[in-house]
Amino acid sequence: MNVKSCLFFALCGCYLISLCILNGCKKPPAGSTHSGPQPLRIHFTCDTSGRIEPCGCFTGQHGGLTRLRTWLKENDPSGQSLRVDIGGAIAGKADYDIIQYGYITKAYAELGYHALNLGADEIALKQADLIRLAGASSVPMISASWVNAASRQEILKPFTIVQHGNLKVGILGVISPNSVTSRDEGTDVLSLNEAIDRHLPALRSQTDVIVLLAFAKLDEMKKIAQQYFEIPIILGGDVSGPAQMLLRENDSILAWTTNEARTVGEITANVEQKTIMDAQYQNQLLWDYIAQDAKIADLMKQYRAEIRQTKLQIDDPNYRHEGAIPGVSATATYMGTETCQSCHPNTHGGWTGSSHARAFDTLKKRGTDADPHCIACHTVGFGKEGGYRRSMGDTQLTAVGCESCHGPGSAHVAKHRDNKPNNFSFRPLDAGDCVSCHHGEFSRPFDWKQFWPKVEHGKETAR
Ligand code: HEC
Ligand code: HEC
Ligand code: HEC
Ligand code: HEC
Repeated sequence: MNVKSCLFFALCGCYLISLCILNGCKKPPAGSTHSGPQPLRIHFTCDTSGRIEPCGCFTGQHGGLTRLRTWLKENDPSGQSLRVDIGGAIAGKADYDIIQYGYITKAYAELGYHALNLGADEIALKQADLIRLAGASSVPMISASWVNAASRQEILKPFTIVQHGNLKVGILGVISPNSVTSRDEGTDVLSLNEAIDRHLPALRSQTDVIVLLAFAKLDEMKKIAQQYFEIPIILGGDVSGPAQMLLRENDSILAWTTNEARTVGEITANVEQKTIMDAQYQNQLLWDYIAQDAKIADLMKQYRAEIRQTKLQIDDPNYRHEGAIPGVSATATYMGTETCQSCHPNTHGGWTGSSHARAFDTLKKRGTDADPHCIACHTVGFGKEGGYRRSMGDTQLTAVGCESCHGPGSAHVAKHRDNKPNNFSFRPLDAGDCVSCHHGEFSRPFDWKQFWPKVEHGKETAR
């Protein structure tokens, strides 16, 4: 052995000893340190759509982050599970949705989440807004897919690494370009393969197990499982309903959920040598009997207080809903239910006794009367030309008035009151006009035979 190689071995030994000291004499790479299977428990959500709490339009509603917190506290009291959201947490892309999203990320922090992946509704935001929101969120917002169009560099962190018991878990977030509905100029969305390929080597060397959050269709998730044996857990996605059972594909397990914050997915498994064993899955419904957590509900209150004081685009009298044709004025505008009363007193009398007449008081009682998410169906013509504006408070066009169903009546009133000849006539209405409001989580299942008799009216000899 010459001097050179002697020195080499001495240095080497030194290095090994120092490695030993630094790592507490554990074998690198990370994770292989603890022999035997290590437990992994994941809770995951997708498609929260702004439901910090459910709207309360009827009793018996499930879901809401309010209930999720209670459920997590009861089922994972030590708060040790890995908690991730796959995307679609925001309700839309209006300015008030963006304001609410700030509170949603606070709710996720309160819920002990570890990562929020970008879904289609988040990608639809302006780049600057999303960067600002990600900066303010204490839970990392991740996306390996969303890049600057020119530089092709990720705009947010592509992944995050979480210490979970003895396991180092790499959480990688992607969205399929097929799921993207719109995106800001100057941004682009990488193919699933490119987004994954970029980070897989680094994640593989730094972690014990990789969890992929894939806002993608089921067949795309399956394809990823077939292509990448290195990704043992794939959670989605852009689906129509939660998975009923765990899907095994190649070496991976797949599960997915959706449903506007009404469900949470749970996976328990053991991890050994980067492989998943004994995996179990359950899809948990957040039943209406689960109490709503006051701390999360308080975030909704804070959102409502902020929104009340904020001037929104929809407050602008010239604001037009998407779909309105610029430059073309509506043929008629809203007159208010009191105007109809003068000529249709009997119908009005019946209406006064119906719950439609109290629809705005309902919101006021709950302090939700300035939230655009609520006033749309509890006022007359909100956001439409000449319709309800938040600046009107409770002075006019409140509640579900005649024109909420029949449409704007100025031309009709001009014809009869001022004898202005015009060929305007209200179009005939039916059950289809009711379900514009009475649908989904906003109503008990709508049944014309059951509902119409309660608000029934018709021809009367108009005065
Ligand atoms: C898509 C239309 C729509 C939206 C948006 C909407 N509601 Fe409603 N709301 C309804 C309908 C329809 C009912 C009646 C449901 C029924 O009788 O089954 C209702 C009923 C209610 C009731 C129950 C009234 C009672 O005393 O029985 C409350 C409370 C309520 N809504 C609050 C809200 C809040 C808060 C929001 C915003 C988060 C909201 N609504 C958004 C349509 C809507
Ligand atoms: C100046 C009186 C007057 C006012 C105000 C008035 N109406 Fe009428 N309305 C009439 C008359 C008259 C008829 C025809 C009645 C008939 O044929 O029996 C009528 C008929 C209708 C009809 C049947 C369809 C049609 O187009 O003829 C509807 C629906 C209606 N009114 C709704 C409303 C609503 C909603 C308002 C408030 C925006 C309103 N009316 C205000 C006088 C009035
Ligand atoms: C503009 C939105 C809207 C439309 C359109 C609408 N509703 Fe409603 N409806 C509501 C709201 C909001 C409530 C709850 C009011 C409250 O109590 O605060 C409600 C409540 C009701 C209730 C009372 C439920 C109860 O038992 O207390 C009945 C019945 C009803 N609607 C029937 C109908 C029918 C029938 C139609 C169609 C002809 C219709 N609604 C169209 C918004 C709407
Ligand atoms: C919840 C929705 C709703 C509200 C609110 C409502 N209507 Fe109606 N109205 C209807 C429907 C639906 C019909 C048709 C019923 C049918 O075909 O049997 C109708 C029918 C009528 C008719 C008879 C139309 C015809 O051609 O025979 C008149 C008049 C009328 N409404 C006036 C009013 C007035 C005035 C008000 C306010 C005081 C009012 N409506 C509030 C849904 C509504």
